[in-house]
Amino acid sequence: VGAAGAAGLMIGAAGGAGISASVSDGGSASGGAVPLTAVGATEVMFHGKHQAGITTPLQARGHLVAFDLVPGAGRKEAAALLRRWSATAGALMAGKPSTDDTGIALDAGPSSLTVTFGFGRTFFDRTGLAARRPVQLDPLPAFSSDALDPKRSEGDLWVQIGADDALVAFHALRALQKDAAGAARVRWQMNGFNRSAGATARPMTARNLMGQVDGTGNPKPSDPDFDRRIFVPQGATGAQDWMAGGSYAVVRRIRMLLDDWEKLPLEKQEKVIGRRKADGAPLTGGTETTELDLDRIGPDGKTVIPDNAHSRISAPEQNGGAAMLRRPFSFHDGIGPDGTPDAGLLFVCWQADPLRGFVPVQRKLDRGDALSPFIRHEASGLFAVPGGAAQGEYVGQRLLE
Ligand code: HEM
Repeated sequence: VGAAGAAGLMIGAAGGAGISASVSDGGSASGGAVPLTAVGATEVMFHGKHQAGITTPLQARGHLVAFDLVPGAGRKEAAALLRRWSATAGALMAGKPSTDDTGIALDAGPSSLTVTFGFGRTFFDRTGLAARRPVQLDPLPAFSSDALDPKRSEGDLWVQIGADDALVAFHALRALQKDAAGAARVRWQMNGFNRSAGATARPMTARNLMGQVDGTGNPKPSDPDFDRRIFVPQGATGAQDWMAGGSYAVVRRIRMLLDDWEKLPLEKQEKVIGRRKADGAPLTGGTETTELDLDRIGPDGKTVIPDNAHSRISAPEQNGGAAMLRRPFSFHDGIGPDGTPDAGLLFVCWQADPLRGFVPVQRKLDRGDALSPFIRHEASGLFAVPGGAAQGEYVGQRLLE
């Protein structure tokens, strides 16, 4: 099978029909089946303590979509929608078709698909559940550098889709949009990407569109305080009881002013972050994972990692321990009306409490981060992402039943 499969792949169009036929008949070994690569075959579990798509490695493709409930839809309709969405997400993440499947992903494996569901502040008013709205969903403070577009911000419901294949991601998007018909309509949608699995010789921290290694300082699931920082505790009480095992997602569409950034000489670019561009190592030396030496003074009598360097200002030790798990996608939506690229970061960060994660850090960055002149926050969302669904349960059931 392996040899026939390899030949089929190499002869391209001539072998194409055989490949798709053999995969769509359930992947049987008949007819020279080509095994799915590790990328296509990788499956992320839908059921579990936490929803998928939070600690899952970054995928190559992402769609972030916010929905508003349609007029007249309330708690009952929302519960039915979350039940439909959970069934669809569970099937697609296992590489199975959805109800009325469009066929877009027929030939592909699950490709690390994840679907993650969250609730925005306004959801609770529309469903009569205001008493169960956690205080963590209080609006984020306004920041001086905000240039937020309300039409592309917030929303009653939020869905994050990630997959290592663009067709698999789009397929999930279509299925979930169709499930929403009659209950919720799309408020905004953002599309993003990361490097594809296998593009580098070994797994590496991703780069963003400024060319920086981005994600080094993230808390690691092996850290002793990881769960406490990222997830709401299992025994949560009061308005947060239904959020046990959940997390809060802050979403920011951050435009990068790439024409300005790319004019900066390398040495200045590195001072903006406080890390080397080539390998992400701190300017105080070592490798990517070496700690920043924030006190080191250079020959010019100044700190080697400048006082306004982005990694200094955002470091947990400078913010009373405030930490978050950053899990972004890059975006590129063509050229804007001013002739500059409409490109940047779909910044998504996860934390047990935004007031001990995103808010204090962004407050400090907003006061004079060296990166600020090169970026613009254009949209914002804050969502309560409940814990994962147990077998037989749908996401959000503990809130909606
Ligand atoms: C670190 C880029 C926005 C929080 C970093 C690093 C880079 C970077 C290159 C160093 C490598 C790393 O540790 O990951 C960017 C870019 C942004 C952006 C290009 C906007 C387009 C933000 C925002 C926040 C944030 C809005 C939160 C409010 C952090 C944190 C760290 C970090 C917490 C890790 C610090 C540490 O643990 O030492 N960022 N960042 N960043 N950034 Fe950003």
